[in-house]
Amino acid sequence: MRHFLKETDLSVEEAAYVFELAAKLKAGRGSADAPKPLANQSWGLLFFKKSTRTRVSFQVGVHELGGNPVMLNAEDMQLARGETPEDTAKVLSRYLHGMVIRCHEHSLLETFVNEGSMPVVNALSDFLHPCQFYTDMFTLAERWSGGDAKQMGASLRGRKIVFIGDTACNMGNTFALGCVHLGMEVVLCGPAGYEPPAELYKQFEADGIAPNFTFTTDPEAAAKGADVLYTDVWVSMGMEDEKERRLREFRPYQVNEHLMSLAKKDAYFMHCLPAHIGEEVSEGVLKGPQSIIFDEAENRLHTQKAILAFLAQENAKLRA
Ligand code: CP
Ligand code: NVA
Repeated sequence: MRHFLKETDLSVEEAAYVFELAAKLKAGRGSADAPKPLANQSWGLLFFKKSTRTRVSFQVGVHELGGNPVMLNAEDMQLARGETPEDTAKVLSRYLHGMVIRCHEHSLLETFVNEGSMPVVNALSDFLHPCQFYTDMFTLAERWSGGDAKQMGASLRGRKIVFIGDTACNMGNTFALGCVHLGMEVVLCGPAGYEPPAELYKQFEADGIAPNFTFTTDPEAAAKGADVLYTDVWVSMGMEDEKERRLREFRPYQVNEHLMSLAKKDAYFMHCLPAHIGEEVSEGVLKGPQSIIFDEAENRLHTQKAILAFLAQENAKLRA
C-alpha cells in the first residue's frame, strides 16, 4: 500500500505527475466532471497540534474528491486518556479508508502505517512537512514552467532555494530532503547549534540519496543568487518553552529587504505561514511584490487533492 509520509515517498517522475494533476484539479475545480476518486470513502483527519491551512484544505479537499472527511481532534479521543496508537490505528482502519495525521513524533505515523490497514498522509510531524513542500514546489513550478504543466517537474531542476531561520525544524528538514530529491540546490542557513539533526542524515541514507545540501551560518552569503528565500517561524509548535532564547539567537536571520536585495532580481519570498512579522520576516518583505505566500496557502488545497488522488489511483492498482 502507498502512503505519503515523506518527500521521497514519491519518485521524481511521480512528483512531476502530481504537479500536473494539481494543475488540472485547480483549473477544473467546481466543474461538473471534476474527478471523485474518493467517492464512497471516509477519511480521518487526526490533529494533535493546531492548524488552520492544513485542516481546512484537507477537509475541503476530501469533500471535493467525493469523500467524507471525519475531523478528529486527538484531545477528544481515547488516545488522550491512554489508548495506544496501535489499537487506535486498528480500530479506525475498520471504519475509514485513509488517514491524514498531524502529530509530534514522526514514529506515530509509522505506527499507523504498520498497525493499520489504510493509506496514511503526513500533515506535519516534528520531523517533516511534505504536503507543504510539494505545495511549495507546485507553486514555483506554476511560475517557472511557462504555463506548460508537462514542464513543471523539469522547471524546478537546478534552482537555488535558501531556507533561512530554524534549520533544525521540520521545514528545514523537509526542504533539505525534498529539494535534493528533486534535483535542486538547497542551502540551509541558521545559527550554530541549529545544524540539521542526525535523523535527517539517517533518512537520506535510508533513501539511498547523498545529502547534497549546504548548511551555513552566513545569511548574506546564502542569499546571493537565490531563486527563493524561504523562512518559517522561529518557535515551532511544541517549542514554546525555548521562545526567549530562540528569538535572541535567530535575530540575525530575519528575511528583510536587505537580504531580499542579495537574491536574484526575480526571486520569490515564501513562508508556510503562520508568520510573525518582525521576527523571521519584515513586514515589507512579507507583504511586498516578491511574496507569494497566499498562492502557497491556496495551493495546499490543489496539491493535497492531487496527492490523495494519486494515492487512490496507485492503491487501486495494487489491489487489482
Ligand atoms: N502551513 C501550515 O501547515 O499551516 P497550518 O499550521 O495552519 O495548517
Ligand atoms: N515549523 C512550524 C511549521 C508550521 C506550519 C511548526 O512546526 O510549528
